[in-house]
Amino acid sequence: MSYIGIDLGTSACKLLLVEENGTVQKTVTKEYPLSFPHSGWSEQAPELWWQACREGVPALLEGFNPAQVQGIGIGGQMHGLVALDATGRVLRPAILWNDGRTAAETEYLNHTIGRETLSKYTGNIAFAGFTAPKLLWMRKHEPELYARIAKILLPKDYLVFKMTGRFATDYSDASGMLLLDVEHKRWSREMCELCGVDPAWLAPLYESWQEVGTLQPDAAAALGLPQTVKVCAGAGDNAAAAVGTGTVGQGRCNISLGTSGTLFISSKTFGVDATNGLHAFAHADGGWHLMGCMLSAASCNKWWMDDILNVTERDYPAEQEPITREKLGRNPVFFLPYLMGERSPINDTDARGTFLGLSMDTTRADMTQAVLEGVAFALRDSFEVARSIGISIPRSNLCGGGAKSPLWGTILANVLGIPLDILVTEQGPGYGGALLAMVCCGRFATVQAATDALVHVSRTIRPDAELTARYEERYQKFRQIYPACKGLFQKLAL
Ligand code: XUL
Repeated sequence: MSYIGIDLGTSACKLLLVEENGTVQKTVTKEYPLSFPHSGWSEQAPELWWQACREGVPALLEGFNPAQVQGIGIGGQMHGLVALDATGRVLRPAILWNDGRTAAETEYLNHTIGRETLSKYTGNIAFAGFTAPKLLWMRKHEPELYARIAKILLPKDYLVFKMTGRFATDYSDASGMLLLDVEHKRWSREMCELCGVDPAWLAPLYESWQEVGTLQPDAAAALGLPQTVKVCAGAGDNAAAAVGTGTVGQGRCNISLGTSGTLFISSKTFGVDATNGLHAFAHADGGWHLMGCMLSAASCNKWWMDDILNVTERDYPAEQEPITREKLGRNPVFFLPYLMGERSPINDTDARGTFLGLSMDTTRADMTQAVLEGVAFALRDSFEVARSIGISIPRSNLCGGGAKSPLWGTILANVLGIPLDILVTEQGPGYGGALLAMVCCGRFATVQAATDALVHVSRTIRPDAELTARYEERYQKFRQIYPACKGLFQKLAL
């Protein structure tokens, strides 16, 4: 028997065919564009995601027997607003998780409604990328479209809808809408009222491994699969990645260096930190988690390599070659990785990317190194928030595209001062999706049982005392840069 795990990402959809013993039989990646209609805005047409599945699943099945496939599980980019009309048609391109247009709405929610009220109802405060502020933005700026909304879905829920014909969402992804009472796992009537959201727009809630339905006939035909294939509710990509890396149960940590960079701490109980510095969300294993999310992580390196240096992914290792161990922790150049503004922990839509400390002898490699280090330092900022509320993180899993770079892994392990475990299957969210599908189809009784049986560490990157000390000194300098630039970012904002 086989299972399909889908990682509905921001730059691509990654599909995995996974055997019941956990072996990844094949992977297929379908890329799609992201559009930035204004500085700090970020949109994508939901049709691109469905097209990626219609092309990707048949390509994945080439050479395999589709009758062997039992279930599908999706981990999807979170928070994106997919608004549908009464006929199920998409009303506008989805406004994504890294879109910063809702500064005014976020300000209104956090200051007029108030952080305490939001935290009481949802366990969270408002961040520009969350879904509720996007709805307030749409109500103000696109009233005609807003009046036609009949359903709102998150990105992966749109795929589940195309596959099964059913509206559904899961607790982990719904947590990022600011409309869910995360502790009690139910939609918040109060938040719906405060945001003018008709509760009928919201999809029924599921645990991530629960079955939503089987493939409807046209979807089965388009994907080349039998109609008996079960589709589970799936999860937000970070919760799915946590499942894929075995970050389940109490007190485990996963770091994802994807388009976004996240620090994810699993918990069996619901908890909120007093400052709401970390998101308090439901997990895909039935529990909860705390998470810090930076908006640009591997995407900073991709921007620097692809758009600025004009090199292709194949050449990334060559660009990193001159960055020898000798140079680590000694780079005079700093980089603030706020290319899309920033969420955790500074919550600032005006912040922007910045190089600091350039001189006539600065090299291309110094700047490449500064980009990798800037992302690691910014993740350390979330790590410090977790520490400040008494959470100890003795080690972490590491996944995402950035984890492919041994240099970046070394920098991160030393900036954080902890060992980082790399898993045999590096495809966190897609693998997590496949494991959720296995639980849905009865292959395992619980998510924990699936991860205990199938997730294995392949190698560990250990920090070393000398490098950690050097990076400690650099981090203490890095953390002074944003406070010094903050006012300037506000003045420069367009
Ligand atoms: C998490 C978040 C990002 C997206 C990226 O809160 O916004 O990690 O899910 O896909």
